[in-house]
Amino acid sequence: MAMDPGIGPRYQESTKYYRQRMPPAPGWTAPVPPYKMYENPLRHVDLPEAEFEAGPGLWQTIAERRSRRGFADEAMSLAQLAQLLWAVQGITSGEHEHALRATASAGALCPNETYLFVSNVTDCPAGIYHYEVLEARLAMLAEGDFSIELAQACLDQGFCAEAGVVFAWGALVPRCAQKYADRAYRYVYMDAGHLGAHLQLAATALDLGSVNIGAFYDEEVNRLLGLDGGAETVVYLAAVGTLNDEDV
Ligand SMILES: Cc1cc2nc3c(=O)[nH]c(=O)nc-3n(C[C@H](O)[C@H](O)[C@H](O)COP(=O)(O)O)c2cc1C
Repeated sequence: MAMDPGIGPRYQESTKYYRQRMPPAPGWTAPVPPYKMYENPLRHVDLPEAEFEAGPGLWQTIAERRSRRGFADEAMSLAQLAQLLWAVQGITSGEHEHALRATASAGALCPNETYLFVSNVTDCPAGIYHYEVLEARLAMLAEGDFSIELAQACLDQGFCAEAGVVFAWGALVPRCAQKYADRAYRYVYMDAGHLGAHLQLAATALDLGSVNIGAFYDEEVNRLLGLDGGAETVVYLAAVGTLNDEDV
């Protein structure tokens, strides 16, 4: 009997498109809403509009992009945070059901929701937030500094506790699976990669440090965010902050 190659190769193989064997369209009846909204957040924080004048050009930004983990005590500004959010998931064309965003997404379904662990950002109280894409504002889900718990949940990576903000992307898998069935998991992760890449380029252009994070105890981060770990589960994080003198 052939040996089971393991879950990774099995997933890859069974979600391949072949001309002679395309998967049937998934039979979903109720479409999954394109935007997530929390009904009763503790408060909203409005974000300043992104600005497009300052900063180096694209080629220089790409050349300078580096993962940096030496964060300073100095707070980031709310304008910087707003600019990062715009670069990651801001609406750049169209509106509402037909809005398109700064990052590409399979089928324009945008399954990854953006959450923030804010610790040190001016005019934004420490807390856990959800980014409301349509309103371009933050909804506070929990108040307080969760940076120590988050660092522990990220395999004790201490820089998470020193960052001004840590982004976390929760994948609402059914939003993508309603069209792509099991192949959706590929797209969810590809989409998340785009979010992380845009975030790092935007952070570089703003002279901020950033590092993407793939090492975390999934259910510990899900618990902090209040996600069920099934229909919505954390897939990727990224820490951002002002740089200390040793890491500029
Ligand atoms: C998917 C992914 C996951 C990563 N996870 C972590 C992480 O958990 N901790 C960390 O310190 N760096 C993490 N990194 C950053 C990499 O270590 C870094 O990109 C790599 O060393 C190359 O360095 P550079 O980004 O400066 O070019 C991750 C990067 C990617 C793309």
